[in-house]
Amino acid sequence: MKTQLSIFSKRFLFTRSRLSSAFAAGQPTYETRPHIITQPGDLTPGISAMEYYQRRLELSTKLPPKSLAIIVGNPIQFSSGSVFYDFQQDNDLYYLTGWLEPDSIVVIEKKGENGPDDVVLHMLVPEKNPKKELWEGPKSGLEGAYNIFNADLVEDIKNAPNYLKNLIKENDNIYWDKKFDSKQSDGLKQFFTFSTNDNINDIITKSNKRMGKLSSLVAEMRVIKSDAEVQMMQKACDISSRAINRAMAKVGSEDPLLSENELAKYLEYQFVRGGCEKHAYIPVVANGSNALCLHYTRNDDVLREGDLVFIDAGGKLGGYCADISRAWPNSPEGFSEPQKDIYQAVLNTNKQCIEVCAESLGLSFHDIHEMSVSTLRSELRNLPGFANVTSSEVSRMYYPHYIGHNVGLDLHDVPSISNFSKLRKNQVITIEPGLYIPNDGPKHYRGIGLRVEDNVVVGATPKDIINLTRECKKEVADVEELVKGSI
Ligand code: GLY
Ligand code: MN
Ligand code: MN
Repeated sequence: MKTQLSIFSKRFLFTRSRLSSAFAAGQPTYETRPHIITQPGDLTPGISAMEYYQRRLELSTKLPPKSLAIIVGNPIQFSSGSVFYDFQQDNDLYYLTGWLEPDSIVVIEKKGENGPDDVVLHMLVPEKNPKKELWEGPKSGLEGAYNIFNADLVEDIKNAPNYLKNLIKENDNIYWDKKFDSKQSDGLKQFFTFSTNDNINDIITKSNKRMGKLSSLVAEMRVIKSDAEVQMMQKACDISSRAINRAMAKVGSEDPLLSENELAKYLEYQFVRGGCEKHAYIPVVANGSNALCLHYTRNDDVLREGDLVFIDAGGKLGGYCADISRAWPNSPEGFSEPQKDIYQAVLNTNKQCIEVCAESLGLSFHDIHEMSVSTLRSELRNLPGFANVTSSEVSRMYYPHYIGHNVGLDLHDVPSISNFSKLRKNQVITIEPGLYIPNDGPKHYRGIGLRVEDNVVVGATPKDIINLTRECKKEVADVEELVKGSI
């Protein structure tokens, strides 16, 4: 192993020290952006270097000796020509290191069974390049990977083929997830295809080592949130909840929002103003019957007085998503009677489902989904036009989606975790029942569509359940108070 180290890595093995505070990294640090990384020792908002280190150690306990966990990070993606999208790091790589720069590979090597000393973090990242930095700003480089992100060994990503080949030779097992296969565009493959013969997938698949899927091992960890993660998610949810409350209060203000797009951008501004980085996802902002389209993201209609406004939106903080849905009347007079009927049915279901998100009750997502269908059915049966509605009609015609999902670094977090597994303490999940009454539904309710979505920390027992989005108003009286324009 030692013979493969670049001179650079060897030097740093012996001279490791904190970089001077003048070192400009390629992402926020406590030294350069203390308004974002507010605690010394944190690598990303609210998550300490120690927590990242412990995550890697925990992953290593799931690997046999002589194993490599190889995580290929994401490249920048382009929308058109040289116009790029916001960079999105591979979330497994981020979860294990906090590293937020493109074109990087992380390898966690487990040598033997001697605990932390046998776990080596290799980071292969782009070398610092003053010419490039003139255009793109500072990058962390190998120095940053070593000194800030605590890599044990660092290498220029350009040398990845040989570095990986040598590392693979010395190990018996490789845990990884195939990315950038031949079906994907050249743009995506470009960076990690080092030469015609050195495609990263080929290096690994042709190695004849024992292979396993890495993402499912990381998913087992990501599904249970640490206390620090719950705290960050609470912040993201508080900020997002207040932003949505403010949007409701615009209805009866002197300066109401006039279009779906304006409301979408108002929400994003409020998320950022409150301290989030950005929207966690493209929001749904739907006037009236536009909400019948479950993933309506055109957001290009006007907001009409008296219609229901439906939004599904949330901010992102430290990479953690909030995912909130609310509906309110676009009238300071409050809900119409039909709007209120459907809203209350969904709200009652939302509240009942949240109350059972406790490990001690032994329920799975699937059980809670079934409960949401039967609760919606009972609620609907109290309303005119739905007297004999069946559960299957509810699922097919009025509530054609699922009760929720895990939420975290990804909006739909760790999808590999089965919906039939029992919920466990510190899973963070959404509870999002809805009703969407189509044009052949009972006449007085046609075109009304909404869901009420909260983010919930599963408790050990019912009394420990935490509704992270409790600040976001949802009781009819509270919503009606807000739309009068009273904050
Ligand atoms: N915002 C998408 C969802 O609620 O799952
Ligand atoms: Mn959701
Ligand atoms: Mn949502």
